[in-house]
Amino acid sequence: YVSPSVRPKQIHEYIGQKAVREQLELSMQAAKMRGESLDHVLLYGPPGLGKTTLSNIIAQEMGVTLRQTSGPVIEKPGDLAAVLTRLEPHDVLFVDEIHRLSPIVEEVLYPAMEDFQIDIVIGEGPAAQSVKIDLPPFTLVGATTRAGLLTSPLRDRFGLVQRLEFYSDEELTQIVSRSAYILGMEALPEGAAEIARRSRGTPRIANRLLRRVRDFAQVRGDGIITQPIADAALNLLEVDSRGLDKMDRRFLQTLIEKFEGGPVGIDSLATALGEERGTIEDVIEPFLVQQGFLIRTPRGRMATSHSYQHLDIEKPVANQ
Ligand code: ADE
Repeated sequence: YVSPSVRPKQIHEYIGQKAVREQLELSMQAAKMRGESLDHVLLYGPPGLGKTTLSNIIAQEMGVTLRQTSGPVIEKPGDLAAVLTRLEPHDVLFVDEIHRLSPIVEEVLYPAMEDFQIDIVIGEGPAAQSVKIDLPPFTLVGATTRAGLLTSPLRDRFGLVQRLEFYSDEELTQIVSRSAYILGMEALPEGAAEIARRSRGTPRIANRLLRRVRDFAQVRGDGIITQPIADAALNLLEVDSRGLDKMDRRFLQTLIEKFEGGPVGIDSLATALGEERGTIEDVIEPFLVQQGFLIRTPRGRMATSHSYQHLDIEKPVANQ
């Protein structure tokens, strides 16, 4: 038995990201009418919001094969050339973490994206030869957590640049209900809504929590995902009423208790937490900012009144 995938495969199954969906659907329809490959697409935003899922859907809608790779996997220009020369016309090449391509690999990608051509150097020293290779027209779908991590020549070569947003509670409730149905679970609407509300606006987290709530419902209940069962399960998992996890709370607590609520530079925070700066910026902070727990100022990160309230810490009068 293999657990069925809860990932939507067709665009009509995809919930949320309305603006992204509409623009992609329009451009895909136009490309199909012209018999061309879809323009290159850059998807950016916090992890778990559906970048990989969307690239699968693009390939499926265009009726082509999806090839998947990632920035760190393509080490040398030859690695990229090997992938590009194996593409069929109009295929989709998905490059996850595209900001992690090395500068020499990026150089190969520019003419590939622009003119469907690559220049590769064969041999070394005086015997080295440059060879031009024509590629089939293809669509590059690049994914990154922040568009700002890309060099501008690379970013400028994407015709469609789309930012994925955190999902609303209503959208996540629909996603949880759909996943529960696919996985053969019985989830009441209030149970699904409780999981949705505590999933940091992120489908990947919602789907993970759903499976953990199911475990709890089976062992401590009658298998049905009700609101009280979801609440008890999520409390056990240390996901709080606003969906903040242990790491989110540790981040805010450190900011408040070690740095008097800020402003403090990201590197000082990273050192105090023993976490990588990139993880803090890409994974932890975006949701806290969106929810009003954190502000980024030119002088550094600051906790908001909302943070003090949520963590039940008294805000010093001088700070108010
Ligand atoms: N599962 C994960 N992301 C989804 C989405 N955006 N729509 C439907 N199901 C999903």
